[in-house]
Amino acid sequence: MDKKICVITGANSGIGKAAAVQIALEGYFVIMTARSKERGEKALKEVRTLSKSDSVELMILDLSLKSSIKHFAETYRKKYDRLDVLIHNAAAFDVSQKEVKTTEEGIESIWATNHLGPVYLTELLMESLKQSKQGRIITVASKGLVLHPNLKVDLKDPEFKNGKFSVSKAYYQSKLAQVMYTYWIAEELKNTNITINCIRVTNVKIDLNRYPNLSALAKFAYSIKSKKSITPEAMAKTYTYLAVSETVRDITGKYFDENNQLVQSSKYSYDKDEIKRVKQLTETYF
Ligand SMILES: NC(=O)c1ccc[n+]([C@@H]2O[C@H](COP(=O)([O-])OP(=O)(O)OC[C@H]3O[C@@H](n4cnc5c(N)ncnc54)[C@H](OP(=O)(O)O)[C@@H]3O)[C@@H](O)[C@H]2O)c1
Repeated sequence: MDKKICVITGANSGIGKAAAVQIALEGYFVIMTARSKERGEKALKEVRTLSKSDSVELMILDLSLKSSIKHFAETYRKKYDRLDVLIHNAAAFDVSQKEVKTTEEGIESIWATNHLGPVYLTELLMESLKQSKQGRIITVASKGLVLHPNLKVDLKDPEFKNGKFSVSKAYYQSKLAQVMYTYWIAEELKNTNITINCIRVTNVKIDLNRYPNLSALAKFAYSIKSKKSITPEAMAKTYTYLAVSETVRDITGKYFDENNQLVQSSKYSYDKDEIKRVKQLTETYF
């Protein structure tokens, strides 16, 4: 394969799909992953049409399940001898979710999808990333974390087994853990050819049809909020920048906003002892 290879998780919708188009237009071979074959194939057609590129493929991957991630990574390694860019875009955040959902592997699904899944996937694709001249990993967090400056990862109860569940608490905890993951893995990879950076995604328009259980009030609130939203295509430009730009080839362990500017995460997220604790907690799952 002459072209650089980019894997984007959850690329059948929103920002991931827009990034697939942009990165294919940059001449990359793009592997879109989706957990649903039907939704994935529909998006694959759109991305191929919009990018006018045949170098776009679909692979099935459910980030909430270790078994699916293992199967994906094994299949990937058999087909491709290298990976240049890995974008951890997929995430679960359905504001109509009222109770804990547990995956068939017994893990709270937001923690599994948004944090554990990306960590496990990176680990299984690390050898492929090392085969790249300059491998890049991109994690995705949320500007909403700014509204929760004192948030911590609940080391004793990350899956809400005892505490009261709220979808927003579970989501922001998982995104905070991804920010901290970016910092610890950047440190571990500092003498390698691989960089990792995190994107602070701002308020981006979402397709409300994806959430049929939203109440009329929540739909109304979204319609107001979306007046200030940017498009998935605009946000995807930062994904593309971090994936392809030469300007960032040596930058690692940083946090970028939608204007490709460096931003700070919370004080807690930089604390080396806290990072170590979140890392140790994460490792108990593997
Ligand atoms: N939109 C915003 O305002 C906003 C703000 C802050 C951060 N973000 C972050 O930006 C990223 C993209 O969001 P978006 O707005 O583009 O959302 P989106 O349109 O809802 O896309 C999310 C993608 O993740 C996939 N996904 C969910 N659970 C999955 C699982 N278990 N396995 C595999 N794929 C799964 C979805 O697939 P299905 O179609 O199968 O559900 C979909 O393809 C996410 O990380 C999100 O947290 C978004």
